[in-house]
Amino acid sequence: MNELEHFFKNEDHRMIHKWNHYFEIYDRHLHHLKGKKINILEIGISHGGSLQMWEYYFKGMATIYAVDINPECKKLESDNIKIFIGSQEDESFLKKLKQSIPPVDVLIDDGGHTMKQQVTTFNQLFDHVAENGIYICEDLHTSYWKHFGGGYKKSRSFIEFSKNFIDKLHAWHTPKVPIDAITKNTHSLHYYDSILVMEKRKMEKPFDVKAGNSSIEDVHAKDLVANSLIYKEAE
Ligand SMILES: C[S@@+](CC[C@H](N)C(=O)[O-])C[C@H]1O[C@@H](n2cnc3c(N)ncnc32)[C@H](O)[C@@H]1O
Repeated sequence: MNELEHFFKNEDHRMIHKWNHYFEIYDRHLHHLKGKKINILEIGISHGGSLQMWEYYFKGMATIYAVDINPECKKLESDNIKIFIGSQEDESFLKKLKQSIPPVDVLIDDGGHTMKQQVTTFNQLFDHVAENGIYICEDLHTSYWKHFGGGYKKSRSFIEFSKNFIDKLHAWHTPKVPIDAITKNTHSLHYYDSILVMEKRKMEKPFDVKAGNSSIEDVHAKDLVANSLIYKEAE
């Protein structure tokens, strides 16, 4: 059991609402930030238990920013936790938020989980995640639920929207996909049941490398080059 799960199950805290398999995913992508001074933004506060969980996990080293549409949540503010009241689907609110807080090392979207909320939040805030930071969007199963604006293969679902990120990651290799901010700033996409974790890193056009002595006649490689099956885009 990792520290997050331990906190959830054994420590005294306000209510936390997560899915049971999320703790392993958080720990896998966030443990390298422990011991560092970091900034976190969580969208969706509810009773504030998850904010206490981050305080516990990062041993007070994290400054925690949080957003909720419910004005009651403002009561949960403390020295280390700054709370902003507004809607994650309101672009002007998110723009003002960006002016009020530093770029964050971790952003967790655990708000209302509608398609519009998840897409607007990503479009507005991905660029406010610092270099080498982590963007986490939770509860992606709502992409399949009508009530949240989702539906299987529905073009405006967050799942369908984020599938385009796979192409953007590979934009270096095809003129058909423009190289954009996602291409240049995303190291990797990690899909889990209901969670997408994006790890940010400054990226440059990759190149292939070889080392070591040639030990066999590589007939196949010659054929590949001759047939333009590598280094050229297959139509
Ligand atoms: C799933 S709960 C958050 C749970 C909390 N992160 C936890 O782990 O315990 C979702 C929260 O999102 C808030 N919310 C719903 N719609 C929102 C919106 N449009 N903008 C911001 N917050 C919203 C709700 O008020 C609720 O507190």
